Amino acid sequence: MTDQSSNQMWGGRFAAGPDAIMEAINASIGFDQRMAAQDIAGSRAHAAMLAATGVITDSDAQAIREGLLTVLSEIERGEFKFSTALEDIHMNVEARLKEIIGDPAGRLHTGRSRNDQVATDFKLWVRDQLDAAESGLLALIRALLAQAEAGADWVMPGFTHLQTAQPVTWGHHMMAYVEMFGRDLSRVRDARTRMNESPLGAAALAGTSFPIDRQMTAEALSFDRPAANSLDAVSDRDFALEFLSTASICAVHLSRFAEELVIWSSAQFRFVTLSDRFSTGSSIMPQKKNPDAAELIRAKVGRIFGANTALMMVMKGLPLAYSKDMQEDKEQVFDAADNWMLALAAMEGMVKDMTANRESLASAAGSGFSTATDLADWLVRVLGLPFRDAHHVTGSLVAIAEKKGCDLPDLTLEDMQSVKSEITDDVYSVLTVENSVHSRQSYGGTAPDQVRAQIKRWKALVGCEY
Ligand code: ARG
Repeated sequence: MTDQSSNQMWGGRFAAGPDAIMEAINASIGFDQRMAAQDIAGSRAHAAMLAATGVITDSDAQAIREGLLTVLSEIERGEFKFSTALEDIHMNVEARLKEIIGDPAGRLHTGRSRNDQVATDFKLWVRDQLDAAESGLLALIRALLAQAEAGADWVMPGFTHLQTAQPVTWGHHMMAYVEMFGRDLSRVRDARTRMNESPLGAAALAGTSFPIDRQMTAEALSFDRPAANSLDAVSDRDFALEFLSTASICAVHLSRFAEELVIWSSAQFRFVTLSDRFSTGSSIMPQKKNPDAAELIRAKVGRIFGANTALMMVMKGLPLAYSKDMQEDKEQVFDAADNWMLALAAMEGMVKDMTANRESLASAAGSGFSTATDLADWLVRVLGLPFRDAHHVTGSLVAIAEKKGCDLPDLTLEDMQSVKSEITDDVYSVLTVENSVHSRQSYGGTAPDQVRAQIKRWKALVGCEY
């Protein structure tokens, strides 16, 4: 005889219920209840298919499908009592269905297993998150495009090694992030397309002897097709790994931009002013306005990449097909998804609200001998020097300016000619930052015309109206 306390779903061969610690390590209901809507959608599709193929009767299928809607509304209203003894969302829903509709509930699990059920639910959940990430990325890209358009010709220093390198335009810098988030967007879309195959009907691992129609359930759940190998269908978590690695790369981009905002909003830079809505104060220093949102976005990459690493490690040694290890996939993905969406939204809000300080950008643009390359290029173009020699001459002129404590445009013509006697007055025309940026007309360069061309291209790509 089966002990009263053994599991009502699978306890047939068990004489006793689980130890409390066994129950604690085994249960996933604490977190997988987030997939309730997906679980019920999957079960409703499965029940309809079982009836259509004659595996169960129409009236049983109807009772099941309606009962599942009742369960869903109980969950949505917060009235559902989740039970740890019933392990996971799948068994919690089915057990409640049985309470509501009685015996027909027992026919729902025909021709499927929790293994294809969980893979299906989780895929549907991840797919929704990819859609949310797509919206979040599009919104962020639009906010960056608005910033780029407003300051397409505003000059600022461009850096390498965080040392002033050459002047660039504000629009150009914003558009660099549009490119990065644009690639993230294409990774999101690509991952969604690749993952969109239905595991449902793979059953435990080998398929089923019931005459099921996997095409039908795939269509009902908006999958492109059923997954073609039942062993793979139940043990594949590539879709979760791709989600996490896509999120990780995007989080790296968010973090790099966040780092720039932290630097740029400091009193030493004053390149941007963040809005009050996206800043915080200090409890002791009344003057402080801290870029906490940027700092937290910068930190999110840690946990998102941590989730990616964790799931890679969970999966790497698993023999086919399903192992319970795979239950560890969800918390990592849930946490990464929550924080990715939050970081995208916070970044969009910050970018929309922030003000670029045109004067500070411009005055910094000319510092640090930022037009030295333009001077070297002039020596090549006008005097016909080989670039290496021009580089050397310019270096000497920088050393003179440094000694005199002035910038390159402040050097006298005698200073210039003391290093290279053929230099003429014409050289001063290339030493302004405006000239420098306008001259960089190469495709993808920082010249305002080039930046505007890229803004136009991206606006068309993301269907921009703002
Ligand atoms: N809660 C399980 C999970 O998340 C569902 C699948 C259980 N399958 C099994 N054979 N025990 O992976």
